[in-house]
Amino acid sequence: MYFIANWKMFGDLRTLNTLDKVIKFSKTNKKNKFQIIYCPPNTLIRPMSRRFKKTNIEVGAQNCHDSYDYGAFTGQVNSRMLKNVGAKYVILGHSENRQIGETDNLINLKIKSAIKSGLKIIFCIGETLKERRAKKTNQILKSQIEKGLKSIKNISNIIIAYEPVWSIGTGEILKEVALTETILFIKSRFKKKNPKILYGGSVNTNNIDKLKKIPNIYGFLIGGASQNPKKFIDIIQKSII
Ligand code: PGA
Repeated sequence: MYFIANWKMFGDLRTLNTLDKVIKFSKTNKKNKFQIIYCPPNTLIRPMSRRFKKTNIEVGAQNCHDSYDYGAFTGQVNSRMLKNVGAKYVILGHSENRQIGETDNLINLKIKSAIKSGLKIIFCIGETLKERRAKKTNQILKSQIEKGLKSIKNISNIIIAYEPVWSIGTGEILKEVALTETILFIKSRFKKKNPKILYGGSVNTNNIDKLKKIPNIYGFLIGGASQNPKKFIDIIQKSII
């Protein structure tokens, strides 16, 4: 199972000391039951990957520019630059970026560029509360998948993260039946390709027992709770027993 820590805009060099607990815990993973991936802000990718040397924890970024080449894009970083400093993954299509104007088409370009750079992609999809209430969830997810992955044939390096927008950071999660149905719908869109599907949105130590029982979920994308090593480890431990 995958446990992806999305640190968002959190953490500085001192915060890295809190990772020692997680490193120690990761050594218990003899049977490879879980894969931990930390996605810190870009400023921490290099120091974090150094700390995780000789562990099986991997590091990813939270976004990238769509240009494979260098260019006049002030403040931006491309997928090759992220790979160069130690990222193996990149989160793309996160709703916090969609909300500030990232379109499906731009996400598609970013995914293509990240594939070219050899990064693995955590591709986020999810509906807003308004869309769910209007019973448009499946239609929205279908469109995000089709547009985001347009003309990408090989999806072996793409992990899907289903994150209902209204669930992120709010403590609210879908009822089990609805979540099961939505995950199944996403799975059905890929037919034989069978990508790994993760769930994200307010995953915490209290709801993980429920969430881990949902079929076809291959792991979790965890925001707030991943900033606390104790909670993060607790979530992993509860999921794998
Ligand atoms: P959350 O964030 O766990 O704090 O809800 C998840 C995410 O945004 O990926």
